Amino acid sequence: MSSQNQDGHRTTVTVGRSEGVSAYDVWVRSGLLDDAGALIGDACRAPRYAIITDSQVYGVYGERLHASLSAEGLAAVTFRFAAGEWNKTRETWIELTDGLLRAGFGRDAVVIALGGGVVGDAAGFVAATYLGGVPLIHMPTTLLAMVDSCVGGAVGVDTGVGKDLVAAVHQPSLVLIDPSLLTTLPMPHIAAGLAAAFKHGLTLDAGYFEELAGSLERIFAREPAGLERLIARSIEIKAEVVSRDAGEEGYRRVLDFGHRLARAQEAISGYAWLHGEALAVGMAAEAAIGEAVGVTRGGVAGRIREVLEAARLPVAVEADVDAERLLRALKLDRERRGEGRYTLLADIGVVAGSAEQGWAREVSDEVVCRVLLG
Ligand SMILES: NC(=O)c1ccc[n+]([C@@H]2O[C@H](COP(=O)([O-])OP(=O)(O)OC[C@H]3O[C@@H](n4cnc5c(N)ncnc54)[C@H](O)[C@@H]3O)[C@@H](O)[C@H]2O)c1
Repeated sequence: MSSQNQDGHRTTVTVGRSEGVSAYDVWVRSGLLDDAGALIGDACRAPRYAIITDSQVYGVYGERLHASLSAEGLAAVTFRFAAGEWNKTRETWIELTDGLLRAGFGRDAVVIALGGGVVGDAAGFVAATYLGGVPLIHMPTTLLAMVDSCVGGAVGVDTGVGKDLVAAVHQPSLVLIDPSLLTTLPMPHIAAGLAAAFKHGLTLDAGYFEELAGSLERIFAREPAGLERLIARSIEIKAEVVSRDAGEEGYRRVLDFGHRLARAQEAISGYAWLHGEALAVGMAAEAAIGEAVGVTRGGVAGRIREVLEAARLPVAVEADVDAERLLRALKLDRERRGEGRYTLLADIGVVAGSAEQGWAREVSDEVVCRVLLG
């Protein structure tokens, strides 16, 4: 359910089934950071808040969040860790949870995650596990976190073996998105976030995909109204999928388009690529695979490639990737997930298949190698 008023754009996400149903609001409005205290005090009151953030985001927005909470008489302690994917680890989780324990936070604590997807995942994992689980508020600061990772409840940390392998599902109690924070985000991260928004359009809303394709200049200029609309529409789409998944288990799979090959690309690059960049490669490749096996309408892969390239995103695996490295990455991914099927498009805005087929299908490694490596 979505609505818009002077407080911004609000979408309610409903999760769970029958007795276990819960709902949370996602607010999108430029300038929200400075009013966060009032919204947090209303929706999620606590004697003290644990703000978890990274070193870079703290330097730009940490003080403002503190001031906004103080203005409402809300007390908070900030815990920060060094920025970067390589710090989304169990070691960071230990530091953060030890910090909360030392500061005397009890079961009435509320965690506020202020940052990109790395902070959201790590702080979310702290909230999921601290004293058996405490409420979580997401305040995403990257485009990727705003359009994707702040909704759905996936939290966790990486290990030496791979990404997100120690993880949990912990839904937030509130999500506050202030698109004006994107003015300080480096450009490659804007493009990477856009990849996730493209995926929402490609899987469920062709009109949205073409609207994004036609607004690239305004998006890269970070026009507030355009960004607000983009984020609100992506949140609506993800919220609808998450809510529908409660009744139709497995429906979330429609949003896996591009992800199997994105994970392979991330692993091959040693996680040096941005998540959104790997997703762009994955979507371009899986669209081409869909055409090769006759599932995706001809011409779709070309259109996707064209738009991704215009959005300054990569569309091919690195030149030195050979069949051996690709197959090794795919095999590892298959072992970890227990299967290796692909979510493919029938057309732009339409996922191929049905609930009975689990919204995914088998494709032979031979076809994958032929399409990706020629
Ligand atoms: N839980 C989920 O559903 C989900 C979904 C997609 C991705 N993810 C995870 O998200 C992570 C990637 O997130 P990300 O791309 O947001 O990267 P990130 O969190 O590492 O942020 C990127 C960089 O930008 C900085 N930054 C953040 N906001 C800023 C701002 N407003 N101004 C200036 N600098 C800013 C950060 O400090 C960091 O250095 C990955 O670990 C991925 O696995 C999770």
